[in-house]
Amino acid sequence: METNQERRFALLLVDDEPMILSTLKRVFRNFPYDLHTAENGRVALQVLKQTPIDAALVDLMMPEMNGMELLAEMRNSYPHVWVVILTGYGGVQEAVSAIQLGAVDFLQKPFEDKGLQARIEQLYRMWLLEQENRQLKEQMQFNFGFDQLIGNSAAILSLKKMIIQVAHSDASILIQGETGTGKELVARAIHHHSPRQAQSFVPVDCAGLNETVMGSELFGHVKGAFTGAHENTLGLIRSADKGTVFLDEVGELSPSMQVKLLRAIQEREVRPVGASRNYPVDVRFLAATNRNLEQEVAEGRFRQDLYYRLNVVVMSVPPLRERLEDVPVLIRHFIAETGTPSGSVRTISKEALACLMTYEWPGNVRELENVIRRAAAIGQNDCIRPSDLPDHFRNLSTCVLGAPGDAVREDSLDAYELAAIRNALAKCVGNRKKAARMLGIGEATLYRKLKRYKLSAQ
Ligand SMILES: Nc1ncnc2c1ncn2[C@@H]1O[C@H](COP(=O)(O)OP(=O)(O)OP(=O)(O)O)[C@@H](O)[C@H]1O
Ligand SMILES: [Mg+2]
Repeated sequence: METNQERRFALLLVDDEPMILSTLKRVFRNFPYDLHTAENGRVALQVLKQTPIDAALVDLMMPEMNGMELLAEMRNSYPHVWVVILTGYGGVQEAVSAIQLGAVDFLQKPFEDKGLQARIEQLYRMWLLEQENRQLKEQMQFNFGFDQLIGNSAAILSLKKMIIQVAHSDASILIQGETGTGKELVARAIHHHSPRQAQSFVPVDCAGLNETVMGSELFGHVKGAFTGAHENTLGLIRSADKGTVFLDEVGELSPSMQVKLLRAIQEREVRPVGASRNYPVDVRFLAATNRNLEQEVAEGRFRQDLYYRLNVVVMSVPPLRERLEDVPVLIRHFIAETGTPSGSVRTISKEALACLMTYEWPGNVRELENVIRRAAAIGQNDCIRPSDLPDHFRNLSTCVLGAPGDAVREDSLDAYELAAIRNALAKCVGNRKKAARMLGIGEATLYRKLKRYKLSAQ
């Protein structure tokens, strides 16, 4: 998603004396600002035209276009830029007029570094707040209508944006992603945001369909078509008429079903088993797979023509380990959703959260959901503790979190080594042998280091 998260606070310094400009640059050298300079009002306007600027420090006495004229122009064209005026000694009267014209502050020369830094830092903090506010607003906007699809990571927000963009058309969409990443939720969200939302959303479990009855399940049958066909049935696809069909695990379809499905998608009609004519259907097809369908096509297991029909748009749902920042909100969501018998569990301890944040999540969000539901069910407190988590997390908690905070100095080499060890242990779910191999050291060395950093649970 596009946010201004990456952009830094941009400060424009305007003064006709090169000495002052270089002093100002030095004063702000150690601040996280992007500094721009201009030697008079005219140049300043050029900079403003080309670069987003957040605040300007403006000298009053300048040739060509003085500070007052620049200020007036900025109020008109760049009203969001904060202007702080620099005046010569005794220029209080002018400063007052500048404030009346819309400057937020003024400072007299000669200025003290600290005072100047503090004034600009105030503006910088206001800017940060504004950024945060804007981001929250954006999140709210993107989350609207996504009550079930939880997550604020950049990956999930851009997925939501894409869902809104593609929901309106009738194009088929192929949703890819590892198991448990939320592919079905994405499909439901697409349906929910589409003009078909008032009609049915019909999931078809392609992996669970029984080959012999699949035709009739998907396309329906007429009475008497086979033994046991006591009456006409619509089948899953026609029952979704005007709505959406979600072909889950589409990669599991048998070759013969792939042909039949292709025809249904191409012709927009289906022939029930035993029927002598086709029936038109108006459905949108969404499909999901955790296989690499392109490879399946290359290896001849999946029809290329069907693949092209299905992947008009491709969406990829990222694995949870690539968006661990979503773990806390997901946990909150699952705790709120899980009605515990006593209703007591309300939150999660820092230690337990740290365990969950250092895990690889091969089962993705489904695995997290199961862990939280289980912990909420067995938890005795209002707070999920490491002891409420399955064993392999508890190993993480003793090995990864056993360190006292003051074992090493922040930023020292040791701190980096410690972080690498923790990381490796987390990745190997506490298995020291594997962790040692990952770190490229012997197990005995790792053992010594664990003791040294007081990481060892013994
Ligand atoms: N972003 C999310 N917010 C809330 N719940 C989620 C999210 N993603 C997944 N889940 C939950 O995780 C579980 C798995 O999601 P879903 O069935 O959509 O995954 P999937 O990708 O279809 O998995 P599979 O490939 O195994 O079928 C569901 O219970 C779903 O509600
Ligand atoms: Mg699924």
